[in-house]
Amino acid sequence: MRDRAERLLERELQSFAATHPKSRALSERAQSSLLGGVPMHWMLRWAGGFPVYAERAWDARFRDVDGLEYVDLCLGDTGAMAGHSPAPGLEVLRAPRGITTMLPTEDAAWVGEELTRRFGISRWQFALTATDANRFTIRLARLVTGRPKVLVFNWCYHGTVDETFATLDGDAVVEREGNLGPPVPLDETTRVVEWNDVAALERELAHGDVACVLTEPALTNIGIVHAEPGFHDALRALTRKYGTLLVIDETHTMCAGPGGFTAAHGLEPDCLTVGKAIGSGIPSAAYGFTEEVAARIDAAIGIDDSDVGGVGGTLAANVLSLAAMRATLTHVLTHEAFERMIAVGERFEEGVTTVIAEHDLPWHVTRLGCRVEYLFRPERPRNGSEAAEGQDHLLDRLIHLYALNRGVLLTPFHNMALMSPATSEADVDRHTEVFAAAAAELVG
Ligand SMILES: Cc1ncc(COP(=O)(O)O)c(C=O)c1O
Repeated sequence: MRDRAERLLERELQSFAATHPKSRALSERAQSSLLGGVPMHWMLRWAGGFPVYAERAWDARFRDVDGLEYVDLCLGDTGAMAGHSPAPGLEVLRAPRGITTMLPTEDAAWVGEELTRRFGISRWQFALTATDANRFTIRLARLVTGRPKVLVFNWCYHGTVDETFATLDGDAVVEREGNLGPPVPLDETTRVVEWNDVAALERELAHGDVACVLTEPALTNIGIVHAEPGFHDALRALTRKYGTLLVIDETHTMCAGPGGFTAAHGLEPDCLTVGKAIGSGIPSAAYGFTEEVAARIDAAIGIDDSDVGGVGGTLAANVLSLAAMRATLTHVLTHEAFERMIAVGERFEEGVTTVIAEHDLPWHVTRLGCRVEYLFRPERPRNGSEAAEGQDHLLDRLIHLYALNRGVLLTPFHNMALMSPATSEADVDRHTEVFAAAAAELVG
């Protein structure tokens, strides 16, 4: 299969170059003004060798500068989970209340109340990115516990948060490959354990120096890795036992429902972070605390120091951002929308499952609400290491490019598809057709 995959990749690369002349020309032009010729360095890694330049995005689609139209299952890696430019989001962009004033608007209280209703956490603050929401939460966790370290699960991703770029090398905590310019060695800031490993979790928490565990409720960034039965109960019980705060990062797992995985599965975190989709992609994020943690924070922060403490930012909680969150939560990512999105996700899962079974391929598919992913290995991974080992860069690149050349955009670096309120059954069926064609060519 590998020889065939390599030949197919070569063919698809040629086809991509031939059908995207304007994207290629823009990439060449950008060489002189942008680092690496791209506005974000990782865009060098798009499967075709140069990125597709978008001309316009709407609903669950976009058109590129060469006039080709795509079903967008990447959706800005969740930033556009609400769909591209949903009508209520566009209304907000007219910014009738201004854009930024350093003053609260009524939207702030409304969004705080709505997030409490959805997630069951009652005291909120706002940021512009999920990365910052995580960073600020870690700072506050250190403040109230007086402890230095953060515990994360191996192969997690929580944005560009220094403490989280740690991985395990045997039992040692080392920096993750590709970590750029770390400020201090990672074992000074971070403890790492494998997801689903309760014994290791207890062993590391027992050191008594962990301010918080920061985790997604299911790993999503190394492929979807679900918690085994009982793992969340153990995580909650052990963090309580050792006086460590439990921070649940719902940025991606909001795909599980209107109140994320936390509401869908009755989790009881001390702190919760969320970003990307809650403002329809207009920079917005939130981080919240239980009453008990909020009281500890209030007691620890002197009012005079509260703007110099490493938490916040001039544009954080700005008028536009709060208005975008309110519009999105009121009109777009509603309870009814999630019911539909999850049903469309189930259809995607069924389509891929059928193709895998038809060709008897050693692959599998996993779903979390309206997020679905396939991995090129037979068994579901139990933890981040198994998921990382299961990655197949050749097949990943081939499937991405094969899909792109046939009008379907998957999330880069893994085979993930996300459903927005605007994603239709026909969009999903288009992916299934393309996936079936790729599988048939691969098995020959
Ligand atoms: C779980 C999780 N948390 C936080 C982030 C950071 O989001 P942002 O890059 O918007 O700051 C990401 C980004 O992919 C994420 O997957």
